Amino acid sequence: MSDRRSVTLIPGDGIGPEITDATLSVLEALEAPFEWDIQKAGMTALEEAGDLLPEGTLESLRRTRLALKGPLTTPIGKGFRSINVTLRQRFDLYANVRPTQTLLPGGRFENIDLVVVRENIEGLYAAMEHYLPVGNDPEAVAYGAGFNSRQECARIIEFAFAYALKNGRKKVTLVHKANILKVLSGIFLHEGRRIAEHYKGRIAFEERIVDACAMELVIKPEAYDVIVTTNLFGDILSDLAAGLVGGLGLAPGANIGPEMAIFEAVHGSAPDIAGQDKANPLALMRAAILMLRHCDRDDLAIRLEKAIKCLVVDEGVRTADLGGKVGTKEFAKLLIQALEA
Ligand code: NAI
Ligand code: MG
Repeated sequence: MSDRRSVTLIPGDGIGPEITDATLSVLEALEAPFEWDIQKAGMTALEEAGDLLPEGTLESLRRTRLALKGPLTTPIGKGFRSINVTLRQRFDLYANVRPTQTLLPGGRFENIDLVVVRENIEGLYAAMEHYLPVGNDPEAVAYGAGFNSRQECARIIEFAFAYALKNGRKKVTLVHKANILKVLSGIFLHEGRRIAEHYKGRIAFEERIVDACAMELVIKPEAYDVIVTTNLFGDILSDLAAGLVGGLGLAPGANIGPEMAIFEAVHGSAPDIAGQDKANPLALMRAAILMLRHCDRDDLAIRLEKAIKCLVVDEGVRTADLGGKVGTKEFAKLLIQALEA
């Protein structure tokens, strides 16, 4: 087959290899047109290659410009920068896209269908942090700063509006804290108002202060469509949104830049359940669905989505985090059967 697309595959740490195996077997059954280039990153890479992010992995990413990535453990302590943050900054993956949809019925909310578009490079994640000494205490005051550039604010807000148009969505809500952070958050709001004008009549625009948005999200999340926000607010609100529909085990994310895209599960390496065949592979599988759509294979994305719905909703086959009994491997096996049914 000639139109196979080469994709960097990073199984990652903890439950990463288990959910990756499950996802690959399902993609294979789906005959997804991917050729995997398996690479290491995270603790696994540190232990085997002495580097959290080995050159071979970077080379592969530069070549394929497309990746499916399992969770990576960031060692706690000084001197280790999050590899995820490094990847985003190094490859200009400025847009973090996290769709949240109700999958399981009977939860608190039935009709959630929203997407958080998070600025992925700037804001308070710039991590310009240090201590200031006072008297004998060298770490008496913790100081941190962030920045938002006009250009980056415009780029992510444009992305959100373009995404809304392309995906048949109706409204963009810009989330900010410009009432307090008049400069840092104000610039984002101003760019939003300016760009919204260009989409007037096509995409509705509204503004929310982040704390009010957090409250509304747990009261009437159905009211939200596309949310665009700065880095830290996006991190928090997208996890909140994931919690509304069944937790981290279901939530996929995409990191998108002008030249590269990395698809991943939102959750971490879950060391507490690693190696026990307990992990829910759905978040990574849903990340693969986003990747299929990104590669214009909506046909395969829809087939996989349907099979998942059929298995998890209609037949009630679920992993332990969703109150079910099947393990990771069994779940993948049954999903393949559902695909082939
Ligand atoms: P975590 O997401 O790994 O785990 C939080 C809780 O959710 C745990 O109880 C875990 O068992 C459960 N959980 C997560 N994914 C699950 C799944 N697929 N199925 C069933 N249960 C699941 O977050 P935590 O414990 O804060 O972080 C662990 C490590 O992961 C840390 O080193 C952290 O830096 C890293 N991390 C990596 C991310 C990435 O690579 N994108 C994102 C978040 C954390
Ligand atoms: Mg996070």
